[in-house]
Amino acid sequence: MGVISLPSRAYRTHPGLFASGFALVLIGLWCARHLLHDAWTLAALPLIWSHHADRFYISAEHDAFDVTFASYSINQTSAAPFPDRVPPVLHHISLGAGASTHSKWAEVRQSCLDMHPDWEAFLWTDETADALVAEHFPELHAMWTSYRYPIQKIDALRYMALYHYGGVILDMDLQCKRAFGPLRRFEFVAPAAHPTGFSIGFMMASQGNAYVRQLVDNLRRYNRHWLGLPYPTVMFSTGCHYASTIHTFQHNRTDLKILAGPKGNRRMHSLNGPVSTPIFNHLGSSSWHSYDAAMIVSLGKNHGWKLPLVGVAAVGLAFFVIRRAKRRAMLRV
Ligand SMILES: *[C@@H]1O[C@H](CO)[C@@H](O)[C@H](O)[C@H]1NC(C)=O
Ligand SMILES: *[C@@H]1O[C@H](CO)[C@@H](O)[C@H](O)[C@H]1NC(C)=O
Repeated sequence: MGVISLPSRAYRTHPGLFASGFALVLIGLWCARHLLHDAWTLAALPLIWSHHADRFYISAEHDAFDVTFASYSINQTSAAPFPDRVPPVLHHISLGAGASTHSKWAEVRQSCLDMHPDWEAFLWTDETADALVAEHFPELHAMWTSYRYPIQKIDALRYMALYHYGGVILDMDLQCKRAFGPLRRFEFVAPAAHPTGFSIGFMMASQGNAYVRQLVDNLRRYNRHWLGLPYPTVMFSTGCHYASTIHTFQHNRTDLKILAGPKGNRRMHSLNGPVSTPIFNHLGSSSWHSYDAAMIVSLGKNHGWKLPLVGVAAVGLAFFVIRRAKRRAMLRV
């Protein structure tokens, strides 16, 4: 007796009410099916990410590639003798409040330009970014301008610029230690993040890449105020978790390469915090332009302060609901 028996009891005394309640639940689930599906895809990332990972993690075995880069000249700007699939274009993004500290990071950005003489280089600012979105992705322009957090605009722009021009997307706080040439033979490359997925602070792609198109096309679908909280909203609507999730749902991930270190040093290329990798010095969280810092700044400027309040409210509400349910069950028995 007790809680378990409530449905059958309700069914016996009020069959009509019970049936319509059940129907309402079904209708509710049906109406929320897209939300439920999208939430499931995001939640499933840790389970699905590594499926056939040996095919898309760059390796000596499958790709005859030296992920330590020790055997490549630091000046190698082309993949030759392989064909160059990634065009010679560099993109940096400096939007909103971050733009005011741009001069501070000009030198860091210049290190990447210097390693790639003769490459085309874009510095996307509020004005030029808006023009790019308006001209080439007009159907997304209204959504893009109304994103709640500035970092969402930056993230979405990464995918749009990368799709339209191809090339290399770089966070402003990445100092280049070598040229990207050896990686240009792949259709898409991004550095592994831990424990799952990849970082979007550095991405390389061919122009008009089908997967990057998916990253652009799914922006609208995942544009939700996830859990009503800033961090999940950014990560799930435009951030690393979003991009990694779309990666897991590609039919063939073989050409969507992820760059990690060799066995025994898998985190060699991870861009978490201030680190030095074979390709970059990541100057890290002191910058407005680092992924983490931009996010924290962007959240702090908006609704970050609400987070603890929402947490306390949620726990309080859960207690209240459980207590009420228990008391009711006891009264009925
Ligand atoms: C790379 O180029 C710079 C100047 O552009 C030169 O000084 C340096 O020796 C080169 N390094 C290698 C390993 O070729
Ligand atoms: C996936 O793509 C790769 C490279 O384009 C190809 O060699 C491979 O056969 C494909 N795998 C499947 C299962 O289609």
